[in-house]
Amino acid sequence: MPNVIATRSLHLEGFGQNPEIFAAPGRVNLIGEHTDYADGFVMPAAIDFATLAAISPRTDNSIVIRSINFEDEVNYPVDHLPTRASHQWHDYTVGVLSVLREAGVRIPAFSLTLNGDVPIGAGLSSSASVEVASMAAVLGLSGADMPLTQVAQFCQRAENRFVGASTGIMDQFVACCGAEDHALLLDCRSLEYRLAPIPPHLSLVIANSMVKHSHAGGEYNTRRSEVEEGTELLRQHRPEIRLLRDATVEDLARWGKEMRPEVLKRCRHIITENTRTVAAADALEAGDLRTLGRLMYEAHASYRDDFEASCPEADKLVELARHEPGCIGARLTGGGFGGCTVNLVKSTVAETFSENLRKGYQKATGIEADIYLCHASAGVHKIPSTEGETQFAK
Ligand code: GLA
Repeated sequence: MPNVIATRSLHLEGFGQNPEIFAAPGRVNLIGEHTDYADGFVMPAAIDFATLAAISPRTDNSIVIRSINFEDEVNYPVDHLPTRASHQWHDYTVGVLSVLREAGVRIPAFSLTLNGDVPIGAGLSSSASVEVASMAAVLGLSGADMPLTQVAQFCQRAENRFVGASTGIMDQFVACCGAEDHALLLDCRSLEYRLAPIPPHLSLVIANSMVKHSHAGGEYNTRRSEVEEGTELLRQHRPEIRLLRDATVEDLARWGKEMRPEVLKRCRHIITENTRTVAAADALEAGDLRTLGRLMYEAHASYRDDFEASCPEADKLVELARHEPGCIGARLTGGGFGGCTVNLVKSTVAETFSENLRKGYQKATGIEADIYLCHASAGVHKIPSTEGETQFAK
C-alpha cells in the first residue's frame, strides 16, 4: 500500500485541507479466468498493493482530481463532467462519477488525490482499485451508504460503459469484499461468495513478465465476443443456456462441431475452468494442496492452448516455477496476453524461489522480471483518521 502519511501530506499541501483517505486493493486471481462474464466462478484474493484516494470538500463547485503517479491534475465544474472517455488515467474516476450520478447519487464538489502502487497493465487490476477507491471516497464524503456488492457492480458498470472495457465483475468485487489471508470464491451469477483461508505457511509470489496488456479494446474484447458466439450457438439447441455457466462438456461434444474451431476452444476453456475453480476452492478448504496445484497447472494449460490468452514469456515463467522446490502451483493470472503469473509457494522457500525464477527468466528471455511477495489483504476500507496524522505531526 502506498505511504499514507505522504499521501495525506501531499493532499494537504495541494488543497489546504486534511483529507479522509480510502484504500482499495489490487487483486491476484488464483483460478477462474474469463469465467466471470459467463456467470461462472472465480477465486481471486485482494493483495497488498492498493490505491489510496484522499478526499476533501470544495466550495467552488468544482471537482479536482490529482494523480500522484501521473503527476497530473484535471478540473471540472461539478455539473459539467465529461460524458465520454478520454483514454487517460482520470477515466476510471470520472466513469465512477458518471455511474453514481445516473443512479441518482448527488455528487458534491471535492478535491481528490489518487496515489497507487498497483503495477499498471500487469493484470493486477490497478483500474478496479482506482474505481473502488474513488467510489468509496465520494460515497464517504457525500455520506451515502451503499452495500459493497452494489459498489462493485457500479464500478464494473463504469469500466464497461465509460472506459469501454467489457470486463466482468471479479476485480471490482474482490477489491470490495476481499479479506486478509483469504481467497474469495465468487459465484458471479448470484454474487454469493465464501472466503477460504490461505494456509499461513504459503506465500503468494507474483512474477511480472513485464509484457504489458490493456483491456480497453484489443484481445480481451475479441475473446469475449468469441465466447458470445459459442454461447449463442449452444442456446439454439438448448434455450435454457443463458451463459456458458449453464453449459457442459457434453453440450460441446454434441454441438461443438457447428462452431468455428477457435470458438469451440474458447468455450471449452470456460466450461472446464468453472469446474476446476469450484474444485480448487474445495481443495484449498480441505488443505489438499496437491490437487490445488494440479488444477492451477491445468488452468494455465487451458488458458494457453484453448483460450490462447497466454504469451511465451508467461509460459516460460510457469515452466520455470514448476521445477522449483516448494512451488505448489503456478499460472498466468488476470485478463491475459501478458502481465503476471501467480505462484503458490511454501513460505520457507519463497525468497529462494523468487530469486531462482528471476534468474531463470532473465537467462531465458533477457527480461528482468519484477517479483512481488504478496499477502492476501482486506478489501476497500477507510484509513483511520489518526493514521498518518499522528505520525505526520511528529
Ligand atoms: C480482467 C477482467 C475480469 C476478468 C479477468 C479474466 O481482469 O477485468 O473481469 O474477466 O480479466 O479472468
